[in-house]
Amino acid sequence: MDSVNKKRTIKPIAILFLAVLVIFAVLQLFNKPLQGKPVAKKIEAPREVLAILENSCFNCHSNQQNLSWYDKIAPISWAVNKDVKRAQEVLNFSEWNYSAGEHQGKMYAILNMIQSGKMPLHNYTLLHPSAKITTKDVETIKKYTLSLSNIAPAKKEMKNIHQNIKLSENNLSSKFPISPNGIKYSDDYKNWKVISMSTLFDNSIRVIYGNDIAVKAIETENFHPWPNGSVVVKSVWKQEKLADGEVRAGEFVNAQFMVKDSKKYTDTEGWGFAKFSGKNLHPTGKTASFAKESCIACHRQLAEKTGYLFDVPMKVNTERLIKNLQK
Ligand code: HEC
Ligand code: HEC
Repeated sequence: MDSVNKKRTIKPIAILFLAVLVIFAVLQLFNKPLQGKPVAKKIEAPREVLAILENSCFNCHSNQQNLSWYDKIAPISWAVNKDVKRAQEVLNFSEWNYSAGEHQGKMYAILNMIQSGKMPLHNYTLLHPSAKITTKDVETIKKYTLSLSNIAPAKKEMKNIHQNIKLSENNLSSKFPISPNGIKYSDDYKNWKVISMSTLFDNSIRVIYGNDIAVKAIETENFHPWPNGSVVVKSVWKQEKLADGEVRAGEFVNAQFMVKDSKKYTDTEGWGFAKFSGKNLHPTGKTASFAKESCIACHRQLAEKTGYLFDVPMKVNTERLIKNLQK
């Protein structure tokens, strides 16, 4: 009797098992492996930075996949292949044909993604725990990313300051210097409304001012696109730590201008950029093309959706949120 019973239960289980196996095998017929692409130009960065990217990001964002066996089996492979295709489209470490400015912008985007925990994708780290990003990894990427904007221009600026001292000795009008693209420095912004503040954790204080047109655009949420005549100025100081631990703005570092004129600044998305550094307010750039090579290259990477301004629309939303909560 017993053996008959066993047979009866084993049979349906065996059939079910077989069915699953068959379905699985059939799925594999529809399993197209990822097509390998050559590495055109690999990203260049310090070894410790590359190691992190290779370990946590390359499987999706490069032409060098090193996938596990289970990533290659349908239906998992369908999801993986879809992610990889999309990821390669937006960011590909094997096709890194970027200028120094664009490289910086990409690194800011990368830092932003890993700091906020958005990358690597959560469903990926569930299956690949070794790809998780540690706090130490974030620090390494942050240090490198900040070094790109700090070290490189500083060297150049030292030279410029020397040139500028000479200039200002025999040219009194240099009190209001003019950027190579025609934007003139003016103190007016100090009376404008503060629309945002920011820090990049590099011991600076950054205050962002807007003129009337920009402020009105923010208040009416009418900045898609920003109206012509909008001017936004970011003023940067070094942090000064007082004995009691309080922090205040110390030495002036620079003032950065963005002036909206969609007819005039056609090759930089309608924004005119200018930067005036140090006590002498030395304007950045030898020719008007500096903004195309540096400023907009970076702003385009991160801030395209917000009209090429980083902070301002975010501030609008939080302010509104708080107002709504207080109602
Ligand atoms: C499992 C695959 C996968 C892994 C691993 C992964 N990403 Fe992504 N990543 C994606 C996909 C897919 C998108 C596109 C998301 C979208 O379109 O919403 C994306 C988007 C991005 C973007 C936005 C690019 C843009 O311009 O919109 C950045 C930056 C980024 N990833 C950085 C990283 C970094 C850095 C790592 C490693 C720490 C990483 N990703 C790991 C799949 C991945
Ligand atoms: C490496 C990337 C990068 C480059 C290059 C760059 N910026 Fe920015 N810029 C940022 C980031 C990030 C912010 C927001 C955080 C902050 O305030 O520092 C910002 C903010 C600003 C702001 C304040 C308004 C806003 O968007 O939030 C102005 C004005 C500005 N930049 C002007 C310039 C000018 C002028 C240049 C060229 C001389 C320039 N930027 C080059 C990254 C860059």
